[in-house]
Amino acid sequence: MSTERPFVDFYSAHGLTPTRQDISDLKRHFQRREALHRQLGIPTGLLKNASIAEFGPGSGHNAIFWASCNPARYILVDATPASLDGTKAQLAKYYPDANYEIVDSDILHFESEERFDLVVCEGVIPTQVNPAAFLQHIASFAAPGGVVIMTCMDPISILSEILRRYTATQLTREIESFDQKLKLLVEFFGPDLNSLEGMSRRHEDWVIDQILHIWTGPLFSMSEAIAALKSEFEVHGSSPRFFDDWRWYKDIHGAGFAFNESGEESYFANAHNFIDYRYTSPSRDAVKNKALVTICNAIYRKQFASERAEAAYPVTQLIEDLELVLVLLEGAHPKTLDAIREFMVCAENGKFDQLAEFRKLWGRGQPYLSFIRNA
Ligand SMILES: C[S@@+](CC[C@H](N)C(=O)[O-])C[C@H]1O[C@@H](n2cnc3c(N)ncnc32)[C@H](O)[C@@H]1O
Repeated sequence: MSTERPFVDFYSAHGLTPTRQDISDLKRHFQRREALHRQLGIPTGLLKNASIAEFGPGSGHNAIFWASCNPARYILVDATPASLDGTKAQLAKYYPDANYEIVDSDILHFESEERFDLVVCEGVIPTQVNPAAFLQHIASFAAPGGVVIMTCMDPISILSEILRRYTATQLTREIESFDQKLKLLVEFFGPDLNSLEGMSRRHEDWVIDQILHIWTGPLFSMSEAIAALKSEFEVHGSSPRFFDDWRWYKDIHGAGFAFNESGEESYFANAHNFIDYRYTSPSRDAVKNKALVTICNAIYRKQFASERAEAAYPVTQLIEDLELVLVLLEGAHPKTLDAIREFMVCAENGKFDQLAEFRKLWGRGQPYLSFIRNA
């Protein structure tokens, strides 16, 4: 059995946590975090004097926002030395008087009798060996009535990045050195990253984490996250916000409480909108979107196996898979379809330097969900 520790081993081997953000404009950074909370349905003002547990704070750039909310208790758990040092440095710099405790522990081994008003776990759960079990573990530290904030890696949302991983594999096939690969890929993906106005992460960190980091486990969709927690939690909010719930609140009780069912329905009716962050179209038939999730997941699994040298992913197979994606995206914005078609031509000819439209294609990254623990 593999003893590889997801994230922690890779980051420790390279002596870094590649999640550093440009927060030179702190007001802007805090407004973005505030916006995230609003989309997730959590008024930040309610966190004053609350207790917060954050699992996997990484470089600590987001931790300073929670510290700014004046919680009565704030613990942060991580096991990568660079993350522990980075988080400590950020909090010491911005909130030296805040009340916090940084715990050096593998999250899966962390135990405590304490239960928290807010449990946060961003960018950590997908690609763990067993994301559902990981989520259940961190969520167990939420108090009854407490909230969990977590991120998913949706197969549709992440497709454009998986295709960039495929591109990177082809471009760096002959290169051994990590630093040389990094240099080449930062330059190659510069135009793609520059097309994202809201990007605050360093380009180098994105390439290390999203392209060169060989992930350990499966993706984790929003419906999988809801399924993992549904016995004790109800899904509450999402970012981006796409939940529809037209029920009369007086009908919502007993077996009809059903926020999870309603959330899952909204997800499958809207999943196609995760393919390209630039456009949205009306909700549609869940059957088509379920098939789209399945094929995007299959593309991830094949790319994953090829990165681990377990099985090749021939270009003919990739083209076939993308043909199906195009069929299932029928009616999507023409620019989205053009971008995928262009990628297919470049991949088939091995001419990735001719990519243009595809460079502007990005999914909706790692969407967030919030959950409330049933009292
Ligand atoms: C991708 S970073 C996310 C950082 C930050 N939350 C963010 O969103 O920018 C993942 C973090 O989770 C930590 N991590 C992942 N799995 C872990 C585990 N099993 N135990 C402890 N830390 C873990 C890593 O060390 C790293 O700091």
